[in-house]
Formats: sequence, C-alpha cells, structure tokens
Amino acid sequence: MLSKVEEIRKSALAACAQARSVKELEQARVQFLGKKGELTQLLRSTGQLPPEERPRFGKLVNEVRDELEAAWVEREQQLFREEEERRLAAEALDITLPGRPIARGSVHPITRVIEETKAIFMHMGYEVVEGPEVEWDYYNFEALNIPPDHPARDMQDTFFITEQLLLRSQTSPVQIRVMENRQPPIRILAPGKVYRADSDITHSPMFHQIEGLVVDRGITFADLKGTLELFARRMFGAKTKIRLRPSYFPFTEPSAEVDVSCIMCGGTGCRVCKDTGWLEILGSGMVDPRVLKGVGYDPREVSGFAFGMGVERIAMLKYGVNDIRLFFENDVRFLRQFGSQGGRLC
Ligand code: PHE
Repeated sequence: MLSKVEEIRKSALAACAQARSVKELEQARVQFLGKKGELTQLLRSTGQLPPEERPRFGKLVNEVRDELEAAWVEREQQLFREEEERRLAAEALDITLPGRPIARGSVHPITRVIEETKAIFMHMGYEVVEGPEVEWDYYNFEALNIPPDHPARDMQDTFFITEQLLLRSQTSPVQIRVMENRQPPIRILAPGKVYRADSDITHSPMFHQIEGLVVDRGITFADLKGTLELFARRMFGAKTKIRLRPSYFPFTEPSAEVDVSCIMCGGTGCRVCKDTGWLEILGSGMVDPRVLKGVGYDPREVSGFAFGMGVERIAMLKYGVNDIRLFFENDVRFLRQFGSQGGRLC
C-alpha cells in the first residue's frame, strides 16, 4: 500500500508537470485528487489495513495530498502566466510601423485674408454681414449715386442678367441694404464675392471684396484714417504706414485711395511697389450725403465713412503671389504652401 502511494505521487507529479493548459491540469487534478480520484480512493481503502498501520498510512496519504495540492497551485499559476503571455504576444501591435499619414488640408489664402480682416474689425466692434451676389441695379448702382447714364459705370465691366438684375460688381450694395433696414449707429464689415468682365494676371472675373461702413453722429475723416491705420498695422505689421490720396467714388465725398508702405521693401522702393515705396490697397471716403438721404437718414444728423478692399490684391501682396489665377486653379502644390505657417512664394 505504501508503494502504491508513492506510485500515485510520482505519476500525479508527472501529470501535473506535463499539463499543457489549465484545462489539462484540471483534468489531471480530478484524476488524482478528485472525489473519485486515485488518491482519494486509496485513502478509502485504509480500512483494509491492519489497525496499527492505519495512522501511518493516513498521515502519509495526507502529506502526499498536501504536496500534490501545492504542486497544482504552483503549476496553475505558471500556466496562467504562460497563457497570458501567449495572449499578449498574439495581440501585440507593431508600433514601429510608420502610421498612415493623414492628409491635412490648409485654409485657402483668400479665406485666410478674409478671416484675418474680420478678426481685426470685429475687435473694433464691427459686425459681419453678407448680401446677395445676384443684385438689383438699384443697389449696385443707383442707390450708390450712380444713375444709369453715369460715367462711373464704365469703370466696372458689369455682368448683366436682365436690364435690372446683375452680378454685383462691388460689395458696396451691402451698405445700402444695411442702412435701409437699420438706424445708426452702424458698424459693419461685408466680405463677399464680386464679378467683373475682366481677366488677366491681376484681374479675375470673380474676386472678393471686403466692404466696411460706419455711420453715427459726428463721424469724421479722422475716424476713417485712424481706423484704416490700425487695420494696416494689424494686417501688414506694426511698422506699416498709410497714405491717403484724393480720389473719386460716386458714393463717397471726399474720397481717398489708401496706400500702405510697401510690405516687401518697407518703403525704400522695390520691384513689387514699382520703386514708389507704396502699395494701393483700398478705396474709401465719407459717405456721400445723397446716399444717406436716399436711405432716409438726415445728413445733418449723422455722417459716416466707407471703405472697400480687394481681397486677392491683399493676398497677393501679403503672400508674394504674382498671378491672381493661382488662387482659383486649386492646384494643391500651390495651396499647400499656405499651411498653418502661411507661405511666401518669392
Ligand atoms: N466699391 C468701390 C470699388 O469697388 C470701393 C469703395 C468702397 C470705395 C467703399 C469707397 C467706399 O472700387
């Protein structure tokens, strides 16, 4: 009987060591240590022994069972570890593989200039408004003091849809639409697309303008100048100067073209400013009293200023682009240069 115990102990330990999985280990446990297991059955046969041998035998079997149970616990932990390692190895990601690049877009330079301009004027309390691109002759011309036979119409090669309907040739009609519907104080910025039958390296049949309008009591030419000076410094850099030259627009009086000191050479003269040191960037003036009267305001009570700038022109100067058509060809090699850092082409 004692040798039988040793035999079971040996084969149980062998089975324990050979079990390849937690499941196999459990099967072996049932075989040796289970209720009907070999060791348990051996213990039941204690009664067949002479009484004096029983305690020794019982003690031995219990010792062997303790030993086997400990072996099982240890082997089980080992198998758990191995299985965990295998699972982790199978699930492992090769993080050394280069990731798939994400194609990041960039903001179109025209959109950028519009957004920057909006931010600058919103800081000064302006509200951004929009108007229709298909416009009535009345808003695009007549209400802006440009009657049908006015020679100023020749300056703008307008696309007419019908006698009265056209593609707006400027953003100035938004001034009228806003003034018709509101009372001063007014402080608006109106960016948008405009259309003119013109096409070469500095003209595109569709381009963008940004209109500004301020109307209130006591608005003077000094307000216009101060506002545009601040805009120029924020847009082109703190050292930028502005210069106002007398000009003519039918809806402003007096009118002025506004130049900024050349952003390429700083005013000393270069190819971009054609050695003048100055770059023309916008048209402006005090809102003509006839326009104010036309929308029902009293020009003795309120006054205002307006300005209009070409977005493409500003973008060309700011980014050093020498052909306006590049903005609309959507060649990604061109557009990519205006990533988060912006770009300068020459
Ligand atoms: N609308 C004018 C243009 O397209 C620019 C302008 C706007 C001038 C507002 C004066 C005031 O040329």
